[in-house]
Amino acid sequence: MPLVLGIESSCDETAAAVVSESGTVLSDVVHSQVALHAPYGGVVPELASRDHLRALVPVVREAMDRAGLPFSGLDAIAVTARPGLIGALLTGVQVAKGLAYATRLPLVAVDHLVGHLLAPFVCRAPEQVVPTFPYVALLASGGHTAIYRVDGPDAAQIRELGATRDDAAGEAFDKVAKLLGLGYPGGPIVDRLAKLGDASKLRLVRPMAHRKDWEMSFSGLKTQVATLVARRPPTTEAEVADLCASFQEAATTVLVDKLVSAARAEAVSCIVITGGVAANAELRARATSAARAAGLTIVVPPFASCTDNAAMIAYAGAQRFVAGGRDGLDLAASSRTILPRRTRKGTGPRG
Ligand code: KG4
Ligand code: ZN
Repeated sequence: MPLVLGIESSCDETAAAVVSESGTVLSDVVHSQVALHAPYGGVVPELASRDHLRALVPVVREAMDRAGLPFSGLDAIAVTARPGLIGALLTGVQVAKGLAYATRLPLVAVDHLVGHLLAPFVCRAPEQVVPTFPYVALLASGGHTAIYRVDGPDAAQIRELGATRDDAAGEAFDKVAKLLGLGYPGGPIVDRLAKLGDASKLRLVRPMAHRKDWEMSFSGLKTQVATLVARRPPTTEAEVADLCASFQEAATTVLVDKLVSAARAEAVSCIVITGGVAANAELRARATSAARAAGLTIVVPPFASCTDNAAMIAYAGAQRFVAGGRDGLDLAASSRTILPRRTRKGTGPRG
């Protein structure tokens, strides 16, 4: 069974993992930069690159130690080459190239979004349910939010059905938390506070909810919260919790409604949620009950597979490797995904 070392450095996590082609995890190491960026309320690209440089070699070494393998026990090295912060991507790509050169192992580039879409195949528990192709997946993270049809593990078998026209869902969670003075990253904090709040106290308009396509928008939702806060700043913890609950209800309802209607339109029987926002308790619960009501199978990956990690990169790399995918030492990092985009960012008339 081929074994692949995966390296991830596209944003604010430095990660390395050793995973088999069938998804068995031999090691999975994640070094988070959250504390580094927290004072700025968001990821500072230059700081991210510098921290990746410091962390990459120790993180890779730890992943190899925990797997209990020499480099000669590996079959390939996979690395996130796109999309993401270009300086951050470059650090991981350079380390992967150096390792591939020194060990003479094949190098395989992975698109970070393909990694997220295949993350549910990474086996972290003995009885874990994995998706069946074709499936429709909601990928909601800090940088991307889109719905895809996935017919197989190859990027050419993945099609975007619709995406956000503006902010990613995770970005909206982070911005709402910031304007409520809650800290960074906002997603987990809003998730926690929303459980204490009452969403029915404030009704927010659900953006693009009634359109018959799978395009989304989250910046308007964030602006609704900003307007409410500017008009009457919350004075108690209960009021903050109510705002979190209302925002989260609106965001997760739109995400789940779009996901389920896309699955129906594509006539697939399996849906998946993935990306950092898929760690959200309300999204997980809503998606699970909506799937049950629609007679769909749903795969909700464990938390460690939702947020950024290298196990999903190693797994996606292993699939490319067994299909014959190889990259040379001239591999270039790119800030853009290889998946064709359907939704155009911004407003204005559409053809
Ligand atoms: O996938 P990820 O780790 O990194 C990117 O590729 O962006 O996603 C990070 C995003 C952040 O915006 C974070 O606030 C959000 O996922 N997030 C959550 C939760 N946990 C992380 N959003 C809502 N609820 C959560 N529990
Ligand atoms: Zn990600």
